[in-house]
Amino acid sequence: MSEDLWAPHALSDPERFTPDVLDPAGPLAPLDSPESAEAPAHGSVTLIIPTFNEAGNIGELLSLLADSLPAHLPCEVLFVDDSTDDTPAVIEKAALDLPFPVAVLHRESAVGGLGGAVVEGVKRADTDWIVVMDADLQHPPHLVPELVGEGERTGADLVVASRYIPGGSRAGLAGNYRIAVSRGATWLTKGLFPRALRGISDPMSGFFAMRRQVVTADALKPLGYKILLELAVRCRPAKVAEVPFVFQDRYSGESKSGAREGMRFLAHLAALRSATPLARMIGFGLIGLSGFVPNLVALWLLTQAGMHYLPAEIAANQAGVLWNFVLIETLLFRDRRRHRHWADRVGRFAVLANADLLLRIPLIALFVGRFGMEVLPATALALLTTFVLRFAATEALVYLPRTTRTRTARPTRS
Ligand code: GDD
Ligand code: MN
Repeated sequence: MSEDLWAPHALSDPERFTPDVLDPAGPLAPLDSPESAEAPAHGSVTLIIPTFNEAGNIGELLSLLADSLPAHLPCEVLFVDDSTDDTPAVIEKAALDLPFPVAVLHRESAVGGLGGAVVEGVKRADTDWIVVMDADLQHPPHLVPELVGEGERTGADLVVASRYIPGGSRAGLAGNYRIAVSRGATWLTKGLFPRALRGISDPMSGFFAMRRQVVTADALKPLGYKILLELAVRCRPAKVAEVPFVFQDRYSGESKSGAREGMRFLAHLAALRSATPLARMIGFGLIGLSGFVPNLVALWLLTQAGMHYLPAEIAANQAGVLWNFVLIETLLFRDRRRHRHWADRVGRFAVLANADLLLRIPLIALFVGRFGMEVLPATALALLTTFVLRFAATEALVYLPRTTRTRTARPTRS
């Protein structure tokens, strides 16, 4: 592939397209463009742009894209829109006179937020490449052909526009607070997924190109903003390349991310990290250890209030159980809660947690009396045994579906 094929040039006698409004409930039909009638043209691109109330950015964005996309690069633009303003109408109007096809998929409910919108777009794409880009011009449109060109040249499956390699910068990231949050999030994420994110200096980037065939859309469970992280961890592109970019100022409107997105991000990290049984068991153990804190605090409060220490022990243990339950629900089994009512889950969880205590004593007696073990190693072994049993029982009795056991996601390793 020659390099200049990807360089933008003036459009001579461009074909004109009219915008296409997709039916959200309809089948996953390919975009209605001349190219997509047969096999995808080599190097063809679906440019997925998620929008949430971005009316003020659409005109400038589409006009810069028209200037940036080479006439011979088969590119379709797909807006996946969750707006409550007139963004879809603005897109349809602005798209009337463009040299590439534009479609709008408006969703009535914003399932999965930004990430969910991108996955909806991915499901509709039947081109060689998918490029994901924000609508607010923080991602320079002229880099779209460069991202795809880099992938074609290097054979990479994923090309990330990065702020953290020479030539890139986060100029448009407003304020020290956001810079610190972004840097902390990047370190945390790289630390949690060293293998999956090897070669990706900017896993928080929302601007990237990926080969369509590498994306297993059904395995994706996006939660909020970090769709690149989701794709890199669950789809494991074999080869990754990066292109530097300067994160620009927002052209119009305001960022939609806030504290709520921050919480979603942590939950997303936990969900990705705990996709294998072993990782989940480790998480279960760590959460269990953290439960000592509320347990001891409650014990102190109750005895201070004059309660006898024995009933206080039992009551305080329930504080630890409740703490563990809340963390396990939100961090480990978030996507498995729907099989039972929450009251049913609390009840079962509490029974298992207390049974754990009751089972430990006869087990220790068995190890000491029957197998002649010393008391200390017998206690350690009993703790370990009841822990593994409790983990397995919690998975099976609290969070697995009642009848058929289905697995949808690929196990995650990192
Ligand atoms: N469809 C849809 N649904 N689009 C959304 C939603 C949603 O719920 N929330 C946000 N968007 C769209 C916005 O309209 C915009 O086009 C794009 O997603 C990014 O949203 P911003 O609100 O501008 O995000 P940001 O600038 O704070 O964050 C960007 O930069 C981060 C790096 O610092 C995003 O690209 C992040 O993914 C990225 O991590
Ligand atoms: Mn933005």
